Amino acid sequence: MASKKRVPVIAGNWKMFKNRDEALAFVFAVNDNMPKRKEVETVICAPAIHLSALVKRQGDNLRIGAQNMHFKDSGAFTGEISPLMLVDAGVSYCVIGHSERRQYFNETDETVNLKVKAAIAHDIIPILCVGESLSIREKGTTNRFVKKQILKAYEGIELEDALKVIVAYEPIWAIGTGVTATKEQANETIKGIRRVLAKLYQRVNANKMRILYGGSVNTNNIKELLGESDIDGALIGGASLKSDDFLKLVDAARK
Ligand code: 13P
Repeated sequence: MASKKRVPVIAGNWKMFKNRDEALAFVFAVNDNMPKRKEVETVICAPAIHLSALVKRQGDNLRIGAQNMHFKDSGAFTGEISPLMLVDAGVSYCVIGHSERRQYFNETDETVNLKVKAAIAHDIIPILCVGESLSIREKGTTNRFVKKQILKAYEGIELEDALKVIVAYEPIWAIGTGVTATKEQANETIKGIRRVLAKLYQRVNANKMRILYGGSVNTNNIKELLGESDIDGALIGGASLKSDDFLKLVDAARK
């Protein structure tokens, strides 16, 4: 860890969990114990309906993120939320292209690319999710599959903006299953992602980009995952729902 120059990111993805009181209680419980942002960047990606309330109560070192957004500023898109609305609510991060959105809500590599661009245009930091299914992992084509996702997601994005993107490598078979990728599997795939980014933006720049791992990360396995050369933090679902556990996850990322 000590040799890594990149600031680690610990991001919780609450998915469709927590009512308003539970969400606020969590933020109150963790606020005062968050490390300085130069040490660890901490983010909670909450259900959209809670975002405004949470932003009002976020401490100096905790940021609130959304889990999805539309790529247009406004329009006749019933049920959608625009980047302008997120900015208006004080939201500064947004998960984009989560595998659950790709699987259940027809998110494609094309819409992911449009959303990454829209997020950057509005100063929202995209947490761009990529990752393969079990059958792709078993076929041995993970790197090729993830490369395609990355190439499309970054299409038309200049270096200056690419540096703002946080990538989250989340193998679908590891999400919510209790089956974590081994630290070697996670690190190797993330290294592959960094190689693709190095081809697009040069090695020196790719070395500055943060790439997280996600998929059954918990308080027991986070330390060894973060100990790997290329894993710069974690995007955490289930284990981010309890404030005590979130504090431990964040602690694991402190240098
Ligand atoms: P789990 O940590 O619950 O496996 O979820 C991972 C995830 O999908 C985070 O975005």
